[in-house]
Amino acid sequence: PAAKKAKLYQLPELIGDRVRLQGWVHRLRTQKTNYFIILRDGSGPLAQLVLSGDAIKTLDALDLTVESTIEATGTIQKVKEGQSAPQGVEIVVDWWKIVGRAPSGDDAFEGRLSADTDASIRADLRHLELRGETATAVMRFRALLLRYFREYFNTKRITEVTPPCMVQTSVEGGSTLFSFDYYGAPAYLTQSSQLYLETVLPSLGDVYCIQESFRAEKSLTRRHLSEYTHLEAELVFIKFNDLLDHLEDIICTVVDNLLADPVASEIIKTLHPEFVPPSRPFLRLDYKDAIKYLNEHGIKKEDGSDHVVGDDIAEAAERKMTDQINRPILLINFPKILKSFYMKAIEGDEDFTESVDVLVPGVGEVVGGSMRISDFDELMAGYKREGIPHEPYYWFTDQRKYGTTEHGGYGLGVERFIAWFLKRWTVREASLYPRYMGRATP
Ligand code: 4AD
Ligand code: MG
Repeated sequence: PAAKKAKLYQLPELIGDRVRLQGWVHRLRTQKTNYFIILRDGSGPLAQLVLSGDAIKTLDALDLTVESTIEATGTIQKVKEGQSAPQGVEIVVDWWKIVGRAPSGDDAFEGRLSADTDASIRADLRHLELRGETATAVMRFRALLLRYFREYFNTKRITEVTPPCMVQTSVEGGSTLFSFDYYGAPAYLTQSSQLYLETVLPSLGDVYCIQESFRAEKSLTRRHLSEYTHLEAELVFIKFNDLLDHLEDIICTVVDNLLADPVASEIIKTLHPEFVPPSRPFLRLDYKDAIKYLNEHGIKKEDGSDHVVGDDIAEAAERKMTDQINRPILLINFPKILKSFYMKAIEGDEDFTESVDVLVPGVGEVVGGSMRISDFDELMAGYKREGIPHEPYYWFTDQRKYGTTEHGGYGLGVERFIAWFLKRWTVREASLYPRYMGRATP
């Protein structure tokens, strides 16, 4: 019978059929009378091909290597009792050929990227590392995660927009800006799309974007990238508590949906079997109480001294506290002096802001958000306090002139969220081609 072209994920439905397959040799076991090829075609599950008889008496059979591309036709059958193979099937090959042969010997893919390969070599070979089972699983999970975030926004009628990455204003301070020449004028790669999201509240209502943000982070840490995927939302006619409830709801819903997804749940089982979904409500911890917590638990500042109100909580201290508490935390009400010009002050406690960081075990901060200043004069004072010239922000300020209202939003670091969920040591593993200080290749 004529062979029908198929992808590997379809095979269990096609038992008894003759199919044509294309893919890469993921693993190879050669015996005198049989070759067993574990094939990968990118569609998800793997499949075992069995070659015997004339099929292994060819020149290609002498030449076959792991990571070579092959094409094959054969008949699908259930694996025999007592044997196991991916998806419980195998393909008895009647014809095959090599499409692109991968190197053998010193250049063989397998030998190059073992678990203890030097980190910089792994980074140079990220394009090959991505073929490995762990990296593939993380990337597949990432795709599903973005899908469930979009689905959540969709069900809440929150509209997706795509703001520009090339900008002429900063959002999170001047120290992490990447600047470049824009037709002779200075411009930057965006740190956050927040300000643009705010401007479209009067036209689209609640909005979100999933857009790259850029930070010139002049240090190498487990959780900082120079380019990361920033999931940001802005919600109109809300109070601070609504923002906190929304954060809890979106995180729990996306987690539940991923745990219920057949592909994602398998990946979680493999990479983070002990993952426990967070329970609601999250712990709501006031910044001032966090300072108290740190001091009471002997978590010191980098210079060995105690924390005082007004201090930024450094990455190490934040993570230590979150790991001890061992559940997601909504850390709220940060001091104004630590935060950006746009954050709304707490009524009656003007030195503090209606701000929130979501902290999760293993990573620390995954979300930063706040209520925004909606009053014109308060915003002008905010620019002044931060020493920011207000003119370039006229389009942002205008919103306080043309029908202002209470609103707030947040930004979630997608790679950090994945690092938490899949228990990755660093956010670099959650990025396709991570960028960090000293690395923009491949
Ligand atoms: O806390 P950040 O700086 O907040 C903002 O940019 C707000 N304007 C967002 C908003 O309200 N729309 O960044 C938000 C999140 C952080 O919590 C963190 O998860 C992630 O972005 N993030 C980074 N992720 C990886 N590498 C970096 N260098 C990151 N910087 C921030
Ligand atoms: Mg932050």
